[in-house]
Amino acid sequence: HASSKAGYKHYMLKEIYEQPQAIVRTLAGRVSHGRVAVDAFGPQAAELLKKAKHIQILACGTSYHAGFVAKYWFEAIAGVSCHVEVASEFRYRTTVLPADTLLVTISQSGETADTLAALREVKSRALGSLCICNVPTSTLVRESDLAFITHAGPEIGVASTKAFTTQLVALMLLVLAAGRQQGTLSAEREQTIVTQLQGIPALVEQVLAMDPAIERIADEFAEKHHTLFLGRGAQYPVAMEGALKLKEISYIHAEAYPAGELKHGPLALVDHDMPVVAVAPKNDLIDKLKSNLQEVRARAGVLYVFADHNADVREEPGIKVFSMPTVADEVAPILYTVPLQLLSYHVAITKGTDVDQPRNLAKSVTVE
Ligand code: G6P
Repeated sequence: HASSKAGYKHYMLKEIYEQPQAIVRTLAGRVSHGRVAVDAFGPQAAELLKKAKHIQILACGTSYHAGFVAKYWFEAIAGVSCHVEVASEFRYRTTVLPADTLLVTISQSGETADTLAALREVKSRALGSLCICNVPTSTLVRESDLAFITHAGPEIGVASTKAFTTQLVALMLLVLAAGRQQGTLSAEREQTIVTQLQGIPALVEQVLAMDPAIERIADEFAEKHHTLFLGRGAQYPVAMEGALKLKEISYIHAEAYPAGELKHGPLALVDHDMPVVAVAPKNDLIDKLKSNLQEVRARAGVLYVFADHNADVREEPGIKVFSMPTVADEVAPILYTVPLQLLSYHVAITKGTDVDQPRNLAKSVTVE
């Protein structure tokens, strides 16, 4: 039964481990022969994606972080300008929508009050609206022009896991479809990225095999009161999502920073008592990130770094390195999310908190 724990201690752990299958399901029928089926987004998707000159993403919580990753992708891969904003801010401010804006809402439940209200507020001024949602019968799906359903399956744990990674997969498909319709993405590059997406489930399995190693460091976090998560580029929202997970279920204050901003404030906080977690795959920014990590080490900060072999981050006293599988830069945010989910899970278990039902939080926030 989909909503039983199936032998796992918590729904959250079960849902973390379901991610390879959830990603396979989300891709099924949506790609073939190295191409995205544009009409997987609905019959008018081809035309809307061709006309759109700007993308405005609206969401809350973890879904907002998925949108933030997609902002990097839309601009870098499809060449379309993209803004992302939390729905509760967007709905109440006076907004200027560029001409031919496609609204993209993202929601696991499709019932989040602020996301629905933001959509209703702005819909009439937009070219069209598209939602990425995990619940086909939801209000959001009904009220959007186009809908793409993530096939994550029911998510019970309040802290979102498989909904997030499948949202990222859906968003990358949307970015590829947009790039094709805009004429900014070559068929070769589309094929390359589709193949990368299809490789993700097997890579997630490899990351899940790192679970015992991640579990071993949980007690180094359990007594701490503050944690800093660092990333750059599209890994910055991954760091934000890692920090949110830790806050939600372990009640440890966690903050994410784009590593280049360290010197503009948070470096003042760094000492041996505040662990610093970094997502550091080999990419164009790795050397810059590594020098940010040196700035942390120089202030006695203790580092936990998730990096692949090519990033060449050396383990030494004060720097613990978790060796990640090598993954293509474009899809790396999907993979680097997973060890951060495991980290927060084990820290919460060590602290003895209620992982599936954290205090003061609800799975679906249907009232303001
Ligand atoms: C709540 C949940 C989060 C979720 C957010 C947005 O805060 O606890 O896990 O990310 O709502 O929910 P949605 O269903 O719109 O993705």
